[in-house]
Amino acid sequence: MLTTRFANRLGASATRRLGATYTQARSLNVFSSERLVGKNVLVTGASSGIGASTAELFAKAGSNVVLLARRRANLDAVKAKCEAAHAEGGYSGSKVVVIEADMQDRKALDTVLDKTEGLKLDVLVNNAGLVRGREHVGVAAEADIDVMFNTNVIGLIQLTQNVVRDFKKRNTGLIVNLGSVAGIESYPGGSIYCATKFAVHAFTDSLRHELIDTNVRIAEILPGMVETEFSVVRYRGDQGRADNEYKGITPLTGADVAEQIVWVASRPEHVQVANLLMFPSQQSAATRNWRRPE
Ligand SMILES: NC(=O)c1ccc[n+]([C@@H]2O[C@H](COP(=O)([O-])OP(=O)(O)OC[C@H]3O[C@@H](n4cnc5c(N)ncnc54)[C@H](OP(=O)(O)O)[C@@H]3O)[C@@H](O)[C@H]2O)c1
Repeated sequence: MLTTRFANRLGASATRRLGATYTQARSLNVFSSERLVGKNVLVTGASSGIGASTAELFAKAGSNVVLLARRRANLDAVKAKCEAAHAEGGYSGSKVVVIEADMQDRKALDTVLDKTEGLKLDVLVNNAGLVRGREHVGVAAEADIDVMFNTNVIGLIQLTQNVVRDFKKRNTGLIVNLGSVAGIESYPGGSIYCATKFAVHAFTDSLRHELIDTNVRIAEILPGMVETEFSVVRYRGDQGRADNEYKGITPLTGADVAEQIVWVASRPEHVQVANLLMFPSQQSAATRNWRRPE
């Protein structure tokens, strides 16, 4: 007998056709995440947005997670959510480690692998990043240029260098870099941010070439508009301006991007997703979107 819920989902005619063969509702989860059970995953920028959702989803899939960012209170809250997600996924004995660190501090990044409480990393998600302002070239503040390059590029490279040495030694591991559509397409008012994400794109591709004779994989996720704290940070805390960015649009959520990251990480070791460009349905390029009339 088909359950009512399953039958409703299938529709009447399919129900009639399948009714004879299906004796009970079956799980529609066709992509297994079993490969992630017991894996150790470091997520940078885990205190909000895409990073927090990604850490939570890995925990739900049975992985241990190491959370890195600057805001301790947020990290502690995400840690509690990861522990709950791990239990919800049906797993016990999860390990969630918090590392308070600034991606701009190279020395701090050099000690990260000693602070994982013994967890040997299987996956690094280089997610920490930010945009500041929409100023045009000529009036961009030096402090904004520095914080974007030091976080999005220099910090990412520093941490990757440390992790890739270990991955190469063990001939295993996956690195997932958060690029952006802004890393393949530039726009006015985005010169510095776009330059950082173009750098991430080039770095990721070069590294993939270098790792060709190893089992170490590298992927890049390139999202369009995702509603997180990203725009609030861009507009220096101006929530109204941030909200305006998504007016008339249903943007991606951090959880939407997390699903892609976790899917990429759960592919078999011989499968390397190189890059994954994703948009909300009403966006087709960096600055091209359709907004519902108010
Ligand atoms: N939202 C979008 O539309 C969008 C689109 C394409 C790509 N992306 C990329 O996705 C990534 C995540 O962004 P999001 O949308 O999730 O934004 P978010 O909610 O603002 O999250 C950014 C994360 O990065 C961390 N971070 C920023 N500067 C850091 C630093 N110096 N040291 C350590 N951690 C730092 C933040 O933590 P702390 O402040 O606690 O340190 C936070 O956890 C970024 O690389 C961003 O460029 C976002």
